[in-house]
Amino acid sequence: MMKVIVVEDYAEMSDEAVKIIESQVAKNNNAVLGLATGSTPIGLYKGMIEGHKERGISYQAIQTVNLDEYIGVEQGHAQSYYTFMRENLLGHIDIPAEQAHIPNGQAISLDEECRRYEQLIDKIGPVDLQILGLGENGHIGFNEPGTSSTTTTHIVALDESTRQSNARFFNSIDEVPTKAITMGIQSIMKSKEIILMVSGEKKAEAIKTLMSKTISEQFPASILWKHNHVTLIVDKDAYKLVDSER
Ligand code: GLP
Repeated sequence: MMKVIVVEDYAEMSDEAVKIIESQVAKNNNAVLGLATGSTPIGLYKGMIEGHKERGISYQAIQTVNLDEYIGVEQGHAQSYYTFMRENLLGHIDIPAEQAHIPNGQAISLDEECRRYEQLIDKIGPVDLQILGLGENGHIGFNEPGTSSTTTTHIVALDESTRQSNARFFNSIDEVPTKAITMGIQSIMKSKEIILMVSGEKKAEAIKTLMSKTISEQFPASILWKHNHVTLIVDKDAYKLVDSER
């Protein structure tokens, strides 16, 4: 089942997501949260930090698992997802560092790292609440079009279009990694609850495709129609091509 909440803008999308996370944490102070990177969840993370600092929300017993990490980018690199998570959330709330998990894109054996990460998800999981952003091509995590719905944590070659979209964070396109390690579609689908956050006109085509409800591996996010507890929080700009066809 997918519940669709159409909101005014990015700020409202972020607020809605903060409410859902905070109510999850209130219900279950040792919940496992699945986290994402990208511009989409930054407002959510700001809201969580505010909730922690101003309203005393504690993440002390929470565990987090991140969806993905670049390969070939050092942990300390400004654009690693490790650094992103420290700067945008983890460094500003009271979660102990050892309870925040991110795939290690620097592991000596990446195959071993994929196995370790999937086992970790199964051991501390299932994830109670997974946050997802949406790629312009329908990717979730780094599961690009064509990814099988049975995939667990695995290594991927990044789509040229994904590299182009992420090039804005690097000095040049050549510096953008070509590979990543990501939770698979099946790893994501194991989550008890999923929130898909989508904002902005750039995502309007993707939302139109998603809302057609056609399930296809060519559009990875469409698998979410098979999950029993998904909330899509989408702003008007991203939803506009759906509205115009009604
Ligand atoms: C990135 C991430 C995804 C993210 C997506 C959208 O490449 N790997 O997890 O959801 O692309 O990014 P943004 O939120 O910046 O639009």
